[in-house]
Amino acid sequence: MKCLLLLCVLVCSAVGYKILCFHPIPSKSHFHLVTGIVHPLVKAGHEVTFVTVFPEAVKDKSKNLRVVDLSHHKKFLEYIDMSDPKVTMTDVQMLSYNLSVSLVQTPAVQDMMVNEQFDAIVTEWFFTEIEAGYAAVQGVPWILLSGNVYHSQVEQIVDAVRSLPILPGIHSRNQLPLTFWQRVQNTLFYCLMSFDEWRSYSVFKAEYEKHFGAIAAARGVPLPPFEDVHRNVSIVLSDSHPSFSPAISKPPNVIEIAGYHIDANIPDLPKDLQDILDSSTHGVIYFSMGSVLKATALKEKTRKELIEVFGSLKQTVLWKFDETFENLPKNIHVRSWMPQSSILAHPNVKVFITHGGLLSTLESLQYGVPLLAIPVFADQPHNAARSVQTGQAVQVQYSPDMAPKVKEALFELLRNDSYSKKAKYLSKLFKNRLNKPSELITHYIELAIETKGALHLRSIVKYYKWYEYLMLDQALLLIVVLYIVYSVLRRAINVLTKEEPKKSSKKKRD
Ligand SMILES: *[C@@H]1O[C@H](CO)[C@@H](O)[C@H](O)[C@H]1NC(C)=O
Ligand SMILES: *[C@@H]1O[C@H](CO)[C@@H](O)[C@H](O)[C@H]1NC(C)=O
Ligand SMILES: *[C@@H]1O[C@H](CO)[C@@H](O)[C@H](O)[C@H]1NC(C)=O
Repeated sequence: MKCLLLLCVLVCSAVGYKILCFHPIPSKSHFHLVTGIVHPLVKAGHEVTFVTVFPEAVKDKSKNLRVVDLSHHKKFLEYIDMSDPKVTMTDVQMLSYNLSVSLVQTPAVQDMMVNEQFDAIVTEWFFTEIEAGYAAVQGVPWILLSGNVYHSQVEQIVDAVRSLPILPGIHSRNQLPLTFWQRVQNTLFYCLMSFDEWRSYSVFKAEYEKHFGAIAAARGVPLPPFEDVHRNVSIVLSDSHPSFSPAISKPPNVIEIAGYHIDANIPDLPKDLQDILDSSTHGVIYFSMGSVLKATALKEKTRKELIEVFGSLKQTVLWKFDETFENLPKNIHVRSWMPQSSILAHPNVKVFITHGGLLSTLESLQYGVPLLAIPVFADQPHNAARSVQTGQAVQVQYSPDMAPKVKEALFELLRNDSYSKKAKYLSKLFKNRLNKPSELITHYIELAIETKGALHLRSIVKYYKWYEYLMLDQALLLIVVLYIVYSVLRRAINVLTKEEPKKSSKKKRD
């Protein structure tokens, strides 16, 4: 009987866990981020359900991977152009709120939540806490993916906010160490964000109760109160690594997996690109502004001037761009799609001109390529400032007449080998790890499931009020004690010298 039971346990565990991964953000980079989590889980034999905006882009045809269509989320791109500099934080928060509500209202998602049982839920941090509901109604561990370097908004979910006095915020261009006024700026920004969160809390709570209340009722389970679950995160998977983001203390349930989205086996280059790269003895400059920035964002005049600059170089230029040009100089090759990793891995690539998106920046680290960063929005200015500070990059301000500045920066990067030396050195740091990120992902998600939430890895800071871990209560006690000691001493001195002052004052009067 025991043997039978053991056999069953073995067989059951060999089947793997049922893990649900959500990708509700209609952006290709977020698709890559979540795919990077799905892939190792599928490979480890788990039954993964991948709810994604781009089901057609899922290449993995494994039997243990189920893809759920969320392509109706593409419509949210109509409300907002992420590359428009006029887009504010409030717009992005509105988008994230729209996405969260739409996700939980999706019939396929509701059906899974009511009728299926998963072992863990993976969501991505994107400004709301409504996603807490999925793990809460299922009663299973919540794995939170953070597609940025570790920042205070994620930090406050799992720990005290330790980064505020020492690190620039995620949207700041400030470099380390921060000056007094930069730290003040940091604090003000954080206070504004906190005020915002405080205001949205009741909205999130209401949405949570409305949508997940109905799901919990249909499942026949009670809905835990929002305040108990909105930060009930078991594991944070963070797209950070000390070779890029500054080293700061983190609780043991924050796992740094930067570079996990990069395929360990570099796909072969198409024949024509391979030939171009191999034959470019003077080197290659690779130019891509990512997937969110539309071609129309580069004005006609800017394009012409950039082509002039590139045409004057002896290096080959590979340019990822949505539109084609006529009469291009021979050394410029424009394609709407480029296999970025395979290009960056080629030894002839000398410079990567980039918008400084995190994924591109991390790929440049993986392959040790110097950067010419032209950041546009979101965390790009922050990443670019960081790459400049590490010595891997030169930065140029994005503007319609940036071409001369681009030329200057290119010359500097090609003339001075300190950038490529630094890039090679950082690449060594980036790759020097005990475990591959994919191993960490499966290990920690399995651990969270097997320990029912990895409580032993969570920071105990949540036992305390903010003024307790800042030791303000103890400081108050110290002030009170000092005041009492001071008062007692003053009294004692007064008593001991009681006669003296009177005499002296009398004398004075006399
Ligand atoms: C959010 O949805 C509302 C309609 O429900 C729409 O008016 C608004 O523009 C949307 N905003 C974003 C940023 O998606
Ligand atoms: C190369 O660039 C580095 C970093 O900006 C600088 O410190 C160094 O002086 C430069 N070397 C030359 C030869 O210009
Ligand atoms: C918090 O999550 C764990 C699993 O990670 C779960 O066992 C626990 O019940 C959750 N807490 C609440 C209040 O729902």
